[in-house]
Amino acid sequence: MTRLLDTLALRATDRRPVWVMRQAGRYLPEYRDLRSRHTFQESILDPKIAAEITLQPIDRFGFDGAIMFADIMTPLQAMGVDVVFDPGPKLRPMSLAEIADLPDLDLDRVDHVAQTLALVRKDVPDDVTVIGFAGAPTTLLAYLLEGSGSKEYLPLRTAMHDGAPELDAALEKLSSAMHAYLAMQVGAGAQVVQLFDSWAGILPRHLLETRSFPAANATLAELHAPTIYFAPGAGHALGSMRSVGASAYGVDWRIPIDEAWVKLGMDVAIQGGLDPAILLTDPDRIQAAVAQLLQQTAGQRGHIVNLGHGIDRHTPLENVAAFVDAVKEAR
Ligand code: CP3
Repeated sequence: MTRLLDTLALRATDRRPVWVMRQAGRYLPEYRDLRSRHTFQESILDPKIAAEITLQPIDRFGFDGAIMFADIMTPLQAMGVDVVFDPGPKLRPMSLAEIADLPDLDLDRVDHVAQTLALVRKDVPDDVTVIGFAGAPTTLLAYLLEGSGSKEYLPLRTAMHDGAPELDAALEKLSSAMHAYLAMQVGAGAQVVQLFDSWAGILPRHLLETRSFPAANATLAELHAPTIYFAPGAGHALGSMRSVGASAYGVDWRIPIDEAWVKLGMDVAIQGGLDPAILLTDPDRIQAAVAQLLQQTAGQRGHIVNLGHGIDRHTPLENVAAFVDAVKEAR
């Protein structure tokens, strides 16, 4: 058992586990170096390169979790959707009916992900947990309807309010595809999987409850591995988020983590919730912020320390080290 798996099961550990979202990325010189020779897409498709990138932040900082290098759009490419990265995903916007009619996920076309996970699992230290992931149906739908990321996600919000039968069909297509994708990852070596619902927080609570959470629940059901559901900006729906049925819930920095945990219910694990902007300050402020975060969950089992969203590309390395060390040195 690893610290991270013990924490997910609410068992006692010597200290809290720590990892960060986007830990394999552009704030790392060794990542930028590899990326100067290979495109983002090439790096994902080549299991050796993807595994190497996955392990870079483990080697440098000793994180407790190794999240596989890929993108939430990777499995959509294996469903025939053309995606380019610039640096965020760009694609031709699709209608709900087109999304509902996409082919099922071809697992052969994501075999590179299975190979990446197998390589990572073989090379990772025993006490580091291998994390797989997928995008949640609502968040993937947001990209497919709009063709890119955006501020307002009006196509998603309009479709959700409209509630046409094609909406259910599109969500169902995405949840069954991502379920198959995650099940493949668990079989290939992922010890825990995280479902990223990065843009769901833009929706009103009733639509999260009637559309997003049921779709996420269907995606995560019966995976035979612990699961983490992460919907930043969805603090207004923490009280009903448990309907997703995950083993742990990621929270951002907007609500104090102790309050968020009470709203979720204390009988489930929680992940988060330092503001990534704190890592842009200095080691002393970081240490103080970590101390405050740990104080808020003191005496409780089940806290995985993480940022409330991905690490910023301009984050100084010494600040990341200060963050990890502050968690590791605390009891
Ligand atoms: O370390 C890790 O977290 C593992 C790898 C990972 C990436 N993307 C690599 C990546 C993971 C887990 C993701 C998930 C992902 N991708 C999400 C969910 C997490 C979140 O941030 O909410 C989303 C929304 C995407 C879509 C996406 N991919 C965006 C918006 C972007 C642009 C990001 C930016 O900072 O400009 C990408 C590209 C991407 N995915 C990069 C990386 C390292 C940057 C590409 C590059 O190196 O040029």
